[in-house]
Amino acid sequence: MSRFWKPGTERPQLVDDEEGGVIFVSSTPSHSIEKQRQRLPVYKYRTHILYLVENHAATIIVGETGSGKTTQIPQFLNEAGWAEGGRVIACTQPRRLSVQSVAARVAEEMGVTLGDEVGYTIRFEDLTKPGVTRIKFLTDGVLLREMMEDPLLTKYSVIMVDEAHERSLSTDILLGLLKKIQCRRPELRLIISSATIEAKSMSAFFRPSKRREEKGADKLGPTKEPAILSVEGKGFTVQTHYLEEPASDYLRTAVSTILAIHDQEPPGDVLVFLTGQDDIDAAVQLLTEDNTRRSSGLLVLPLYSGLSRADQELIFSPTPRSKRKVIISTNIAETSLTLEGVVYVVDSGFSKQRFYNPISDIENLVVAPISKASARQRAGRAGRVRPGKCYRLYTEEFFNKEMSAHGIPEMQRSNLASSIIQLKALGIDNILGFDWPAPPAPEAMVRALEILYLLGVIDDDAKLTSPVGFQVAEIPLDATVSKMILSGHLLGCSEEVITVAAILSIQSIWVSVRGSQKELDEAKLRFAAAEGDHVTYLNVYKAYLQSGKSPQWCHKNFINYQAMKKVVETRGQLTRIAHRLGIALKSCEKDTEVFRKAVTAGFFTNACRLEGGVYKTVRNSQEVHIHPSSVLFRVNPKWVVYHSLVLTDRHYMRNVMTIEPSWLTEAAPNLYQQKSSNFDAR
Ligand code: CDP
Ligand code: MG
Repeated sequence: MSRFWKPGTERPQLVDDEEGGVIFVSSTPSHSIEKQRQRLPVYKYRTHILYLVENHAATIIVGETGSGKTTQIPQFLNEAGWAEGGRVIACTQPRRLSVQSVAARVAEEMGVTLGDEVGYTIRFEDLTKPGVTRIKFLTDGVLLREMMEDPLLTKYSVIMVDEAHERSLSTDILLGLLKKIQCRRPELRLIISSATIEAKSMSAFFRPSKRREEKGADKLGPTKEPAILSVEGKGFTVQTHYLEEPASDYLRTAVSTILAIHDQEPPGDVLVFLTGQDDIDAAVQLLTEDNTRRSSGLLVLPLYSGLSRADQELIFSPTPRSKRKVIISTNIAETSLTLEGVVYVVDSGFSKQRFYNPISDIENLVVAPISKASARQRAGRAGRVRPGKCYRLYTEEFFNKEMSAHGIPEMQRSNLASSIIQLKALGIDNILGFDWPAPPAPEAMVRALEILYLLGVIDDDAKLTSPVGFQVAEIPLDATVSKMILSGHLLGCSEEVITVAAILSIQSIWVSVRGSQKELDEAKLRFAAAEGDHVTYLNVYKAYLQSGKSPQWCHKNFINYQAMKKVVETRGQLTRIAHRLGIALKSCEKDTEVFRKAVTAGFFTNACRLEGGVYKTVRNSQEVHIHPSSVLFRVNPKWVVYHSLVLTDRHYMRNVMTIEPSWLTEAAPNLYQQKSSNFDAR
C-alpha cells in the first residue's frame, strides 16, 4: 500500500487518553451500560453542565464526536428534574436517521420502551406519548413545524440544538427563532451543542444587545450571557495518508483501499465516506461480489438515511469475532453518529451538497469537496478505540488548495421558499430584518418571494394568502408539492396528487442493482406511461395495492419493498393533514390530464421545451437533459415539467412529465403571459 500513499504532514489533532481502554458496546446488562455512561467524557462535566443550564439562558457545549453530548446531556437534565411537571426536554438533530438512532440508544440506556419516556418525532413519524414522554428527539425541521401550533414551544423546559456546527437550514432558522422565544420565556433554557462550532460567534449571536440590558427588561431569571463549555476530547492519534496521485476512479480506489487494509492491517473496523446512496450501493456490491480470499471475513454494511431499522441495528451491533466490519456511509457518520470499533477511515473527500443559484433559480445536489474541518472530523472517527489511520482518497495538495477551511452554512446556498413560508406563518413578515445567525443572500430572498408570489402563496404585500398560503404552510412539503396537492383538490384528483407527493418524498422506489440495469428497465416498461414518470408512479402504486402489498411482487418487479411501505405510511400521514385542511380523497380515475394539470400548477417554474434536440427551461433557457432513470429518456416529448435537477456532467431532470404549453399560462398567467407569444402551441 505504501507505494500509493504518502503520510500526511497535518498535525494530528487528537490526544491519547491515559486509560488506553477499549470500549465495546454490548447491548445487554444495564449495569454495564451504566459503566459505559460513566466512562464518557461528558460524565465528568455532569454537575458543571447542570449548573450552567440552571444559571444561563443559553449554554454552548463543544465536544468531540462520541464524547456523549447527545445521549447523555438529555439524561442529565431528566435526572435533575427538568422534565418534572409534564415538561419535556427536546434535543434536535439535523438528520432523521440520527434522531431515530440516538432515541433508541437513550431508551435502551434508561431501560424504557422507545416511545414512552424517551421518544422521537421525524416528519411523517411520531413516536411520543403526550404526558409520558420526557425526553424527545426530533429533527430541527419538526420543531420548527411545532412552532406553528405553539409559537412559544411552551411544553419544553430545555431545548438542545445539537450538531449546530452543521449549520443546516432549519438549525439556523431555529436558532433565530429560539432567540426571540427566550425574550418571552425567560425560563426556557437552550443548549447549543456541536463538535466544532465557532463557539465565540454563536455566543455573540445569543448575547443580548446592550440596549435591552440597560433598560433592565429582564431582571429576573438566568443570566443572559451565554455560557461556553468545552468538553475535553477522548480521541487517540490518527495517522493520515494521502494519495500520491489523484485517483481516476474514486469508487474503485476506495474498494481497493478497503481490500488492502483488510489484507495488511491488524483487526479493526473500517469506515468509508462516499457521497450518496448510489455510490454506496455500488461499492457494497463491488466488495460483496469480490469472492476472492481478499474479501473473506468482511462484513460490508451501507449507511445512509432511509435505511430500515433492522439495517440500522446491524451497524451498531458489535462486530462478530473473526470479522471486520466495513461501514460505507454518507457524511452522516462524520459527526452525528458514533460508531464503536472503527480504526480505519477511508475518506473520498467529497459529499453531496445543496447549491442554489438565485439567478437561474436552480437548486442542485452537487458532489463537491468537503471542507478541511469536515476532513478532520472524518479522520477523527478512526481514533475512538485506539490509535487509527485515515486514508484520504485525494492528494495533500488537494487538501491544501481545494478544500475550504469551513463549509458554507446551508442558509447561504439554498432555495429559501420553504423557510420564508415558515417564518411568515409564524407572523414574522419582515424577513429581511430577521435576526439570522448567517444572513442569506438578498438575491436568494427576492427570488424566493417571487416564486411564492407566482405560486399564489403570498400576495402583493408579501403576506401569506388565505387560504392557499396558510394551507401550503401547513403541509410539511416543499411549497411546489403542497401547491400541487391543493390544485389536485380543486381539480378533483386529490387522491392521485397525494400518492405522487408521497412517492416523490422518497429517493427512489426502484431497486438499484448494479449490473442488472437491463432487467430494471424492462420492469419499468411494465408500468411506464407515455405521460411520464408521475403517471408511471400511479401505475406502480395501483399495481402494488392489487398485489396485496406483496414483497414478492415488489421483488419480481424491481421495486423496493421498504420504500413502498414508507410510501403507504407517508400517504396516510398526508391524507390526515389534507383532511385537516378540508381536503377529502377524490380520484380522477383514468383522466390523467387533470392530474397532470395539477402537477403543472405546482411545478410550472420547472417547465422545459425541446429546441433543436435539447431541452431548455422556459424561464431561463438553461440547457437540461432527461435523466436516464426517467421513463421519458430517449422519448423526448416537446413540453415537459420536471420535479428536480441533478448536476453531474450536465443538468439532468429527474421525474419528468409531459404537459401542454397552454397549461402553463393557466397555472401562472403572470409568468407566462408575456412569453406566450413565443409558444408554438402544438
Ligand atoms: O453526541 P456525541 O457525539 O458527543 O456522543 P453520543 O452520540 O452521545 O455517543 C456517546 C456514546 O454512545 C458513544 O460511545 C457511542 O458509541 C454510544 N452510542 C451507541 O452505542 N449507539 C448509539 N445509537 C448512539 C451512541
Ligand atoms: Mg452527537
